Amino acid sequence: DGDVLILAIESSCDETAASVVLNGRTVLSNVISSQIALHTLYGGVVPEIASRKHMEQINQVIELALQEADVTLDDITAIGVTYGPGLVGALLVGVAEAKAIAFAKHKPLVGVHHIEGHISANYIEHPELKPPFAALVVSGGHTHLVIVKDYGEYEIIGRTRDDAAGEAFDKVARAVGLGYPGGPKVDKLAKEGNPDAIAFPRAHVDGSEYDFSFSGIKSAVLNYINSCEMKGEEINRADLVASFQKAVVDALVSRAMHAVKEYNMDTLAIAGGVASNSALRAALQKECDKTGVKFYSPSPIFCTDNAAMIGAAAYYEYKKGVRHGWDLNAVPNLKL
Ligand code: KG4
Ligand code: ZN
Repeated sequence: DGDVLILAIESSCDETAASVVLNGRTVLSNVISSQIALHTLYGGVVPEIASRKHMEQINQVIELALQEADVTLDDITAIGVTYGPGLVGALLVGVAEAKAIAFAKHKPLVGVHHIEGHISANYIEHPELKPPFAALVVSGGHTHLVIVKDYGEYEIIGRTRDDAAGEAFDKVARAVGLGYPGGPKVDKLAKEGNPDAIAFPRAHVDGSEYDFSFSGIKSAVLNYINSCEMKGEEINRADLVASFQKAVVDALVSRAMHAVKEYNMDTLAIAGGVASNSALRAALQKECDKTGVKFYSPSPIFCTDNAAMIGAAAYYEYKKGVRHGWDLNAVPNLKL
């Protein structure tokens, strides 16, 4: 009856994930095996360890995703898989697995861009959301302002010149001893602090209204910590992270709202791990309410890496006729 059931696989970084998605919008299962505890020991993701752990986990994760959706591989229409960007050894595990299943079960194979997946996470819980819309993608590896012209059709109008937003959160969290991954911990501690306690710079990027820069804010935080230590002053960590977070949120919100206006968009969506940040969500909601713009965000579980978002993206690629061959390879720096 034309229903499309996608088995989606995601292994680009430190989550091994599989999901079964019906017609791009209905998630029948969403299994995520996180390696965070393993990498915490090292203060960040260790690529070789990530690949090995994906190898150990992937079969069980897929098995569980099928079980929870109450389907078998025979019921699946197509296999969707993230093939970039990401860690090459990590991506290869998912790509090889997807190819093996597609080959053995004679199913079409659809490779998906990880960022397209993050953006498509918005389709899962918002059936009324349709392109065109503006999207702010903020993750551990990416910070992009994107115009989603149509399904699978993107124009990147702004990007970070240095650190990704999530990277800045993680580095600042590390500097104040909050551990890895820092984003959620900063988010939590910032609620107890005064965001106006310390005036950190709002980086301006020459020559582009939509590009971001976070290394300046990050350095200012590190310098502030050093100077306090030298003067023997105690640091109010809650005030510090609240002020840092405000600087990042301001930079993201001002550019996103500027893009919405200049490109005549009536809708803004956010995506990526940092999109689960409570201050960012609240600030964008407020600005959108003020200007009559519809604002969409995925639930936090669909913001950080997952395979349901890959299933949503794979559905629209599949409908457009995209099919990948057995030569599909992991592309660590894949362009959107
Ligand atoms: O999208 P994601 O899971 O992986 C990448 O594709 O990079 O994003 C992970 C990033 C990490 O940097 C993490 O610290 C950040 O998202 N993050 C947050 C929050 N939750 C996750 N940053 C700020 N506030 C949060 N609540
Ligand atoms: Zn991601």
